[in-house]
Amino acid sequence: MKFFLDTANIDEIKQGVSWGLVDGVTTNPSLVVKEGVDFHSRVKEICAVVNGSVSAEVTAVDFDGMMKEGHVLAKLHHNVTVKVPLIPEGIKACKALSSEGIKVNVTLCFSASQALIAAKAGATYISPFVGRLDDVSQDGIQLIRDIVHIYKNYGFSTQVLAASLRHPMHVVQSAMAGAHVGTMPIGVMKQLFNHPLTDIGLKRFLDDWEKAKSQAPKK
Ligand code: E4P
Repeated sequence: MKFFLDTANIDEIKQGVSWGLVDGVTTNPSLVVKEGVDFHSRVKEICAVVNGSVSAEVTAVDFDGMMKEGHVLAKLHHNVTVKVPLIPEGIKACKALSSEGIKVNVTLCFSASQALIAAKAGATYISPFVGRLDDVSQDGIQLIRDIVHIYKNYGFSTQVLAASLRHPMHVVQSAMAGAHVGTMPIGVMKQLFNHPLTDIGLKRFLDDWEKAKSQAPKK
């Protein structure tokens, strides 16, 4: 499973990269606005730090506007994946951009039927939002299972990018469901490391080591 960081913050990306865990980055308009920086410059900065797919989202909602923005974004760096919303115009733009060889991430996916049309339109990634479905009492992980199942049935090459992951179990369950990618905030990536028994065990080893050293015969 590939790990993407869901952020537009350079320090967070550098931290994840230093752990060797970041295979790519996803951004969205809300994440970019939070940074208060120029969008295109930030996308280029991210591409300089991460060797992998960097999703940058269009803000137009009409086909021509999406194509125009998509072309500009794709020219920023060869690792840019153009992100389009799962609406009819977005699916049209996905088909057109994909046939030009531009990678496309179709976002805001909340159903298996939506995932099916994104795959038919040649999407490189489909982004089902697990956390936002859980927020409205629907099973986000079940959607990941369903999409993986459907894509396997027909041999679609579209990768399932589990998004809106809010905690480590979302990551683990997405992996168990066969998602190709999980995109997560830096906080969730940090939580993946944690286990209290690791901390207790390490403390015990180090305490024993210190005790053994103080008991060792002086040379
Ligand atoms: C990533 O591509 C999505 O935009 C993101 O995961 C959404 O996450 P949220 O539901 O926590 O905003």
